[in-house]
Amino acid sequence: MLSPVTGPDGALDVFDFERVAKQVLPPAHWGYLATGTDGNETLRANRAAFDKWYLRAMRMTDTSTIDTTLEMLGQKLSSPIVIAPAGSQRAFHPDGELATARAARSRDHLQILSYVSTHSVEEVIRERGGPVWMQLYPTSRWSVAEKMIKRAEKAGCPALVLTVDLNADSNRIPLKRYIPLDERDCSTCHDPSRKDAWLDRKPMYRDTGATSDEFLTPGMTWDYVGRLKDASSMKVVIKGIVTAEDAASAVQHGADGIIVSNHGGRAEASGWATLDSLPEVVSAVDGTIPVLVDSGFRRGTDIFKALALGADAVCIGRAYLWGLAAFGQPGIEKVLDILRAELDMVMAQVGTASLAEIGPASIGRH
Ligand code: FNR
Ligand code: LAC
Repeated sequence: MLSPVTGPDGALDVFDFERVAKQVLPPAHWGYLATGTDGNETLRANRAAFDKWYLRAMRMTDTSTIDTTLEMLGQKLSSPIVIAPAGSQRAFHPDGELATARAARSRDHLQILSYVSTHSVEEVIRERGGPVWMQLYPTSRWSVAEKMIKRAEKAGCPALVLTVDLNADSNRIPLKRYIPLDERDCSTCHDPSRKDAWLDRKPMYRDTGATSDEFLTPGMTWDYVGRLKDASSMKVVIKGIVTAEDAASAVQHGADGIIVSNHGGRAEASGWATLDSLPEVVSAVDGTIPVLVDSGFRRGTDIFKALALGADAVCIGRAYLWGLAAFGQPGIEKVLDILRAELDMVMAQVGTASLAEIGPASIGRH
């Protein structure tokens, strides 16, 4: 194996950060970052799907200026690359979500903050210097959810992102195999005598009254979207959709956007890649609301393929978390620089000077 790079500038692609992250993180924290479910079937499928599609490069078009700007839910964005919500970022670097916010600010990317973050939304918005979208795990108690929604709205979040692919538990065997490899005394942070101890490190749940027992929401049904819409003036984006049927339900119940996602293979072992579920969702939505996609995106070419299949934007998860773990804020900045440069390059190669020019003619299936 190649030896890891010693600083962000030495990285040639985002996988260089993965190698460093694995080396610097304690085994249990690496396990949390890397884990899929069962035998990582969906994790592998997400990556393998990119090889099933090829690009149809058109020559002799003017690509001297590449334009990656777009407008989504009333917000002007300089790039379709969005920072996905990820919990517990201080497990990867002491600066946690603040490093992510600073990188999002310096490189001007939309950031979605996890509700199980280890810094508060108020701190994150301050460091971002602008609004972030707030992801929501609302618990099974509405009075808790109401407090959470109000806090996000008061902080100035324009959109709530309801994650619906982890309403029930996930079988994270790979994580469980890493935990015993960690020889540190973990009890100072992970107090084994209290089931709710992990909530102490989650500032967004403080004062909500939430408990571990009501964290999962297996009873949630589509009427919940209307409830969320009625509870605030924020836009409501549904994260975790993979079928045309659910996409149609989301639209019908008033969702303002959809994120096609299988949680980076951390929710189920369907073995179904999001790139392969994207076309049916795009077709069901039929342009009525924005469609974002995530899970497995590591290169500009991957991002381009999703845009060609009809996504409006692409969220990245592990790619930036590897940068965070490896080098903090400068690591995330370099990951974003690499992905943006790669996307610009592939847009020029295919002959699409703007996002609007990327479409079905840009892609084919083997
Ligand atoms: C996540 N993800 C996630 N999603 C969410 O809605 N709320 C959350 O708190 C988290 N937490 C989280 C932690 C870690 C360590 C990872 C890796 C992921 C899922 C995330 O938003 C996104 O869907 C995936 O990460 C996308 O897949 P890739 O890019 O990691 O392959
Ligand atoms: C995860 C949760 C926090 O994927 O969404 O670990």
